[in-house]
Amino acid sequence: MKLVFATNNNHKLQEVSQVVGEKFDITSLKECGITEDIPENEPTLEGNALAKARYIYSRTGLNCFADDTGLEVEALNGEPGVRSARYATDGHDDTANKRLLLERMEGVENRTAQFRTAMVLIIEGKEYLFEGIVRGRILHEECGEGGFGYDPIFAPEGYDCSFAQMSAQEKNDISHRGIAVRKLAEFLQNAIL
Ligand code: IMP
Repeated sequence: MKLVFATNNNHKLQEVSQVVGEKFDITSLKECGITEDIPENEPTLEGNALAKARYIYSRTGLNCFADDTGLEVEALNGEPGVRSARYATDGHDDTANKRLLLERMEGVENRTAQFRTAMVLIIEGKEYLFEGIVRGRILHEECGEGGFGYDPIFAPEGYDCSFAQMSAQEKNDISHRGIAVRKLAEFLQNAIL
């Protein structure tokens, strides 16, 4: 089955393709001719994921799914949350975002945080929502070179290393997006195929 995934981020495409395996042909936005930025102005992760999926479905008529992810930090009342991509600037600047978060966490003892992904699937016009959460903590400095976004400053619960120090497979096995995508793939297998 062909499914459009609402991203042009190669890391995310790889992560998701690895989880769903060969049964689904995952296509990026570019591959289906959508080159403009899809607006993400909703106040919640769920709202943004739904808006993105609806946008693609209305433009292409293709079955599709979209996700929105936020890093929710307990000591910052859930921030940056839905604003994770534009935390420091309007420009999706990962380096500035990580720096700002580390600054705000200076001297803060409670480092508890979670990544949360909301994922919306549209199949033949019907909408389905899936969620994935991984709990962990914000490190005091960046560790590791892999991954993307906030990966170098987030250590999942039960691990001494950051997401950026894990292989793609290790991260996928426990990550917010991995969990949400596995739910989506399981749903497709049970309900439709
Ligand atoms: P988006 O929903 O994928 O656009 O992500 C929102 C923000 O969270 C961006 O700043 C991403 O870099 C960051 N982000 C999303 N997923 C991850 C992840 O798996 N690890 C680290 N940062 C992420």
